[in-house]
Amino acid sequence: MPDVDDLKEGKQYYTDKPQKGEGFFLKGSNNLEWGMKDRLARIFNPVSGNTVMLAFDHGYLMGPTSGLERMDLTIVPLIEYADCIMCTRGALRTIVPPTCGTPVSLRYSSGTTVLTELNDECLMDIEEAVRLNASLLAVMVAVGDRFEATTIRNLTRTVDLGTRYGIPTLGVTAVGKDMARDARYISMASRVCAENGAHVVKTYFCDDFEKVTSTCPVPIVLAGGKKLPELDALTMAYRAIDQGANGVDMGRNIFQAGNPIAMIQAVKAVVHDREIPEKAFDMYNTLKAEQK
Ligand code: 5RP
Repeated sequence: MPDVDDLKEGKQYYTDKPQKGEGFFLKGSNNLEWGMKDRLARIFNPVSGNTVMLAFDHGYLMGPTSGLERMDLTIVPLIEYADCIMCTRGALRTIVPPTCGTPVSLRYSSGTTVLTELNDECLMDIEEAVRLNASLLAVMVAVGDRFEATTIRNLTRTVDLGTRYGIPTLGVTAVGKDMARDARYISMASRVCAENGAHVVKTYFCDDFEKVTSTCPVPIVLAGGKKLPELDALTMAYRAIDQGANGVDMGRNIFQAGNPIAMIQAVKAVVHDREIPEKAFDMYNTLKAEQK
């Protein structure tokens, strides 16, 4: 029964206190709407402000990359350690357990492979991304490349479509073969992504990386790149975080590591706890020995 007496004269709780209003923890995201913030807060840890994304989308342009031949055996055991997974819809539907609960950065642009010319890409339907419950839409952006205009159009379109449904966009900077991987180029490519609406940017490490992060108004996640010795990969991650990155989006340096489960935990220690590379490498070796 509704309590009609309370309507007349009930105790008033805390009405004398101003309502709390908190700023959002992530760089450049304070003015986004609730759904976008909710998705970003599931990808980026609100305590550390950072994320460890596990990338295994390589097959869309490289086919069965080393370490990804049997993703059910090599990738699925890593998913529980990742803050977010970055993959294609093919991988999602075939090997990723829908019960895993890990947010998905969906490879949203594709078009060519390493056998022809990269970056001539198009987009999938936004309804497909909604059906797959994507938390982030990953689009390749090739600044300075022959397909620069196509890829920037793809980014802009993705931001428009994602905004309809509250799904943020990740601009993935593709560095062409002829481009110098220096701070001048990488800061330009990252800034172009942000200015065209990307909510997060994935880019490569370079000298003066602080120049890249400090001139980009949205969070930057570090792209892993080719496999490095484990200590070198941890050092690169540490330097990137130290110079303002909000996490890593790493593939080969995790799943091609001597022990991928130990490696992803060591990367997490660097990214979330700012563990120094040497200590994280000790942790890697300890975990590796335990798991034998
Ligand atoms: C290309 C991509 C990837 O296909 C992938 O995510 C790269 O991961 P990694 O270089 O760490 O193996 O984003 O730009």
